[in-house]
Amino acid sequence: MAFMKNYLLPILGIFLAYYYYSADEEFRPEMLKGKKVIVTGASMGIGKEIAYHLAKMGAHVVVTARSEEALKKVVSDCLEYGAASAHYIAGTMENITFAEQFVAKAGKIMGGLDMLILNHIAKVTMEPFAGGTYLTRTVMEVNYISYVALSMAAVPMLKQSNGSIVVVSSVAGKMASPLLASYSASKFALDGFFSSLRKEYLMTKINVSVTLCILGLINTDSAMKGISGILKAEASPKEDCALEIIKGGALRQEEVYYGKFLWPSFLLRNPGRGIVEFLSLRKYNVEKFINN
Ligand SMILES: NC(=O)c1ccc[n+]([C@@H]2O[C@H](COP(=O)([O-])OP(=O)(O)OC[C@H]3O[C@@H](n4cnc5c(N)ncnc54)[C@H](OP(=O)(O)O)[C@@H]3O)[C@@H](O)[C@H]2O)c1
Ligand SMILES: *[C@@H]1O[C@H](CO)[C@@H](O)[C@H](O)[C@H]1NC(C)=O
Ligand SMILES: *[C@@H]1O[C@H](CO)[C@@H](O)[C@H](O)[C@H]1NC(C)=O
Ligand SMILES: *[C@@H]1O[C@H](CO)[C@@H](O)[C@H](O)[C@H]1NC(C)=O
Repeated sequence: MAFMKNYLLPILGIFLAYYYYSADEEFRPEMLKGKKVIVTGASMGIGKEIAYHLAKMGAHVVVTARSEEALKKVVSDCLEYGAASAHYIAGTMENITFAEQFVAKAGKIMGGLDMLILNHIAKVTMEPFAGGTYLTRTVMEVNYISYVALSMAAVPMLKQSNGSIVVVSSVAGKMASPLLASYSASKFALDGFFSSLRKEYLMTKINVSVTLCILGLINTDSAMKGISGILKAEASPKEDCALEIIKGGALRQEEVYYGKFLWPSFLLRNPGRGIVEFLSLRKYNVEKFINN
């Protein structure tokens, strides 16, 4: 009986909740109309496609990356596609001060923030790990620490707008992936941090959604160059991928899985983890953290 009460009912609850949320409202492009959105790593690849979709939906966008010339082009394209407004601020996410000041400036330009889409990464090379803590640290700073800094700078604005944080990750952030040790570590870190943050917000009633996007291989120039001659896998289109990322954020989904996975994605979703997380949440008392 105790087993039933302690375990079976909660598990049943999870499945009912899952059913309820998966039958949630449908995505409409108008959901983004007039919304104020930041996109990082938007000078090329998936980030650029995200900016273009947002522009076509009539959102305000501020994009960032290091290459100023490429960003200028993205901004002028966005205006042509119908963005409510489009601006860029160039800089490197190796510089955490830049990251923080960037969010403040972007918020000022748009007069607030509804969605923060974190997508940039340090250049990836597929090779056996050969030591080198310097490189590992840089990868951690660009792919993980800057994500934390950008989010913390954005949260005051996102609380005001009931906004969303969207974090772009990878299958390499859910499973072991040889030849990508540092990259994989940085993506696992994002899962640990942002999934914990999501639980905290849930428990302390902060209405900022956190969406983690798990992508398979996508046909961006850098990825295609990076895997050439090393990994045989089918890539999915970056335009479609970018749209799924926006949808997941707009629908406030916890996780988005997109790509041609070698194995069914429900195995990657790790239902066992979901169950133990759900059960352990009941042991916390967070009353004292609510409303401050
Ligand atoms: N493509 C795939 O197969 C694949 C698979 C799984 C997950 N993902 C994820 O999807 C996201 C986008 O991937 P992608 O293939 O589109 O990458 P990408 O085409 O290589 O674009 C990376 C972006 O990050 C920027 N960037 C690089 N270093 C930076 C730095 N130090 N500071 C600030 N910005 C920097 C780049 O611009 P600048 O060089 O101008 O700075 C560029 O805009 C990443 O989070 C990646 O992990 C991709
Ligand atoms: C980091 O960025 C800040 C703000 O943009 C800038 O003032 C500072 O000079 C940068 N630091 C380095 C080492 O480039
Ligand atoms: C945020 O959500 C709360 C609760 O649903 C609502 O009362 C408030 O008006 C919302 N604020 C905005 C800016 O949407
Ligand atoms: C959180 O904000 C969203 C978007 O404004 C709103 O639809 C939802 O009802 C809010 N949820 C709560 C619990 O306030």
